[in-house]
Amino acid sequence: MSYQDIYTRSMEDPDGFWGDAAAEIDWYKPWDKVLDDSNKPFYRWFQGGELNTCYNAVDRHVENGRGDQAALIYDSPVTGTQKTFTYRELQDEVAGFAGALAASGVTKGDRVIVYMPMIPQAAIAMLACARIGAIHSVVFGGFAAKELATRIDDAKPRAIVSATCGIEGKRVIEYKPLLDQAVDLSTHKPNNIFMFKRLQAEASMQAGRDLDWDESVAAASPADCVPVAATDPLYILYTSGTTGIPKGVVRDNGGHAVALKWTMKNIYNVEPGDVYWAASDVGWVVGHSYIVYGPLLHGATTIMFEGKPVGTPDPGAFWRVISEHNVKVMFTAPTAFRAIKRDDPEAEYLKKYDMSKFEALFLAGERCDPDTLAWAQNTLKVPVVDHWWQTETGWGIAANCLGIEELPIKAGSPTVCVPGYDVRILDENGNEEKAGEIGRIMVKLPMPPGCLPTLWQNDDRFVESYLSAQEGYYLTGDAGYKDEDGYLWIMSRIDDIINVAGHRLSTGGMEEVLASHPDVAECAVIGVADQLKGELPVGLVVLKAGAGRDGEELVGELVALVRQKIGPVAAFKKVTVVDRLPKTRSGKILRGTMKKIADGQEFNMPATIDDPVILDEITEALIRIGYAK
Ligand code: COA
Ligand code: AMP
Repeated sequence: MSYQDIYTRSMEDPDGFWGDAAAEIDWYKPWDKVLDDSNKPFYRWFQGGELNTCYNAVDRHVENGRGDQAALIYDSPVTGTQKTFTYRELQDEVAGFAGALAASGVTKGDRVIVYMPMIPQAAIAMLACARIGAIHSVVFGGFAAKELATRIDDAKPRAIVSATCGIEGKRVIEYKPLLDQAVDLSTHKPNNIFMFKRLQAEASMQAGRDLDWDESVAAASPADCVPVAATDPLYILYTSGTTGIPKGVVRDNGGHAVALKWTMKNIYNVEPGDVYWAASDVGWVVGHSYIVYGPLLHGATTIMFEGKPVGTPDPGAFWRVISEHNVKVMFTAPTAFRAIKRDDPEAEYLKKYDMSKFEALFLAGERCDPDTLAWAQNTLKVPVVDHWWQTETGWGIAANCLGIEELPIKAGSPTVCVPGYDVRILDENGNEEKAGEIGRIMVKLPMPPGCLPTLWQNDDRFVESYLSAQEGYYLTGDAGYKDEDGYLWIMSRIDDIINVAGHRLSTGGMEEVLASHPDVAECAVIGVADQLKGELPVGLVVLKAGAGRDGEELVGELVALVRQKIGPVAAFKKVTVVDRLPKTRSGKILRGTMKKIADGQEFNMPATIDDPVILDEITEALIRIGYAK
């Protein structure tokens, strides 16, 4: 069937479409209803059904003859190690750790925070939670203790699972001091902290609370899979909102398993037994969906890569992994390819490797600039597919679905709506824009299975953030247009979210940190274009009268403060002191205009600006830190 036929069926007969897809998942009890729309605007998929996500991702493959196939390959250039887990070995590891969690009292519905580097135990911990019906919440290792504490207070975990360290290139980052600090800062206290001991670092353990991973597993009996409702949460993943308080995106068990399994063949054209590699981090949604759940639900082999595209040890790292492990399809963010292109523009390293098994590259996380797309296409000579999605959806909203029909690629567009998504471009009055006209990108409800049913214990914020802009629609937060051929073009965010090296960050959150400095009167953070990372945050601060501070010294303190409060992942390094910020007469800071100035773009003088002269001062300040040229 053509893409168009399949897409049309998904729109006209969602129950039939997703009901068929659900037959690919093993259920303890079939659903009563495919789509339950009895409580709009909340929709639930596979109401009444019972399953276990871990069973579907691990055990059933062992039962169906894949026990000796590689399930997970750990490839770690930073430690110089590699280890393959077959499905049978993964089952043993997961059941073992699930037993340890259960023995500590973790049970169905309890939350478990996973704060782990890119080691197999991260996936094992996630699957172990799924096995016993506990809800995991993975926190990215690049976040600071305060961010971790915020998530501890929101999720209220019974246990935290961590490792003694992460490794960033050549740097060993000890996790335990960060964890202890986060638990000190948080109001909620977990009962236990499980620590996986890595060779590179030790951890001081608090008797009674902290447990050694290996010892706990040895002392417990393996735990079996428990049935959970399709609508029960599998995980919570916090993502940047427009304030410093992150949003706890909830993922259910049933819709998620059905949707992800479906995407593996239909979007990525991967078959069970193929090797699939998402070079991301388990702390991000890409890591949840395509390092752990998607490939494993499909019976494919997944790769967990503890390294970087460059510097571990060279810009040939990706090609080495692809050729050594026979990767068929890879998924990463454009920023990774910009890093490789910067260090090895002629792709000399590629000549060392046999890439004959490699069939397609998928990119997401940020807009893929046409230069990067062309470089990847010319270098790899396989289809390079830009696809668009977000933490909230958990899988692609727009893509070139290679497993259905390869459509012509238009550089700069993530192609067309994936079956299941009814994407519309709406103006402020809720009317649909004509082809080519930019508007708010919205998805007509219901969203397909796997998309967030709500925010963790916060239905009101869910409705307010996503469903209240236009009745009957989900607000993606992106602006863009559809062209005459129905291709989507994602142009910008309509809120304060920026994408730094494919990492989603809130400039509002950074402003809150800067404003907390005693000498700062007011501030603005804008996302400025960056050749490597796509965007970088730049701060502009106005000092309090009589602060009497040397600008340089303050800049250092502000950079350190953001690193300490949000984490190194914010990549906040540029800040400049100004006398005033440009505002409208009603007092709104003109961040968009400052961004244009910083990027060296043309801009129209805002009609409502309070004092145009300020823009000259801003330009000078930005030039001093290397922008506005
Ligand atoms: N734990 C601790 N610190 C971390 C971390 C982690 N898990 N991940 C990143 N950091 C730190 C980095 O070491 C860096 O610290 P520094 O300021 O001391 O140098 C900082 O956070 C910023 O990290 P990053 O933005 O990743 O920059 P980088 O210069 O280390 O690497 C790239 C740049 C492009 C190579 C890198 O971002 C990359 O590989 N991106 C791939 C895309 C990706 O994974 N996207 C996720 C969504 S698909
Ligand atoms: P995250 O939730 O971290 O996955 O970030 C989601 C946001 O990243 C989206 O709302 C977009 O703003 C941006 N994004 C992700 N993929 C793409 C893409 N292919 N093209 C343009 N923007 C993208």
